[in-house]
Amino acid sequence: MKTFTTLATLVISSAFTRAAPFDHAEWVNPDYIARMSIHESCNATQTIQLEKALDDFERFSHNAQSYLQRAGTEDELIDKYFGSSSNPENQPVAAGIFASLSDGDKAGASLRCDDPDGLCALYDGYYAGHHRGTNGTLETVICDLSYETRKPIEQVCALGHLVPDDQAGKFWGIDLIHRFSHLPIVAGGSVGHAADEYETLIDLAKNNASEAAWNMKTLQYFALDAWAHTFAVPGVGCDEYADSADQSKSTPTPTPEPEPSPTDDAPLLCHTHANGEEHCTTAE
Ligand SMILES: *[C@@H]1O[C@H](CO)[C@@H](O)[C@H](O)[C@H]1NC(C)=O
Ligand SMILES: *[C@@H]1O[C@H](CO)[C@@H](O)[C@H](O)[C@H]1NC(C)=O
Ligand SMILES: *[C@@H]1O[C@H](CO)[C@@H](O)[C@H](O)[C@H]1NC(C)=O
Repeated sequence: MKTFTTLATLVISSAFTRAAPFDHAEWVNPDYIARMSIHESCNATQTIQLEKALDDFERFSHNAQSYLQRAGTEDELIDKYFGSSSNPENQPVAAGIFASLSDGDKAGASLRCDDPDGLCALYDGYYAGHHRGTNGTLETVICDLSYETRKPIEQVCALGHLVPDDQAGKFWGIDLIHRFSHLPIVAGGSVGHAADEYETLIDLAKNNASEAAWNMKTLQYFALDAWAHTFAVPGVGCDEYADSADQSKSTPTPTPEPEPSPTDDAPLLCHTHANGEEHCTTAE
């Protein structure tokens, strides 16, 4: 017993000796921080909700990245969103974008609550938030409307929610995937809007897959669906196929929702790209 203890001590101390050269590492960017900070303009209740939104964002993006990396090369969900059977490079590209979203440097980046550009007030009832563009490339304003409309991650697949039937960005964490994609560190600002509707992004994966990994809504819906399949309803998710298979015999065809129009009271989501181009969609 005594001999054994001595041996173990020897092994441990020699491991320490070998690790010594790495003690002098010089990490690039000593200011690095992975988590977005909350601006001082946010009060106590806003801060507690935004910290939870950041937790949700981290859960969604880590799970999306991990799904892409664990799944191997023939996964139905990955093929559905990224057309990976025809464009296999989309899988590591998307995993890299999610890695940048969650672990990319957010030093100096913040979520603000004080409407510094006056756009929340100007588009009251329409703007849920916006990137400050040239007024502050690292700053994202969250308008009061967000606190009224955004849902927590725990409600994915709950309360009648189906992934294809509702805007992915109605969930706080998925909304932040969009907002943080405007940070320069994330994919160099190259994530775009080739297809914004659920049907068109599924079509994009089938017919124009080279665009799929760089399409914002594809990344958002994939993160949501991967969460649905991993945690919300494990192994099943809550997409239209599972739902119609279960209910096709008993449920009448639902009345289609009217098309959203700019005059609806649905909140508009606008943001400014690095090149100054403004992009708006109805609320997610
Ligand atoms: C924080 O600000 C929001 C928006 O103005 C307000 O609704 C909320 O009551 C405030 N919370 C506190 C603790 O003052
Ligand atoms: C920048 O701020 C001005 C007001 O100071 C505002 O009119 C303009 O819309 C802002 N730009 C962006 C991209 O938010
Ligand atoms: C595919 O994307 C290219 C480049 O954006 C576009 O010109 C083309 O029309 C797209 N094709 C389809 C079938 O959507």
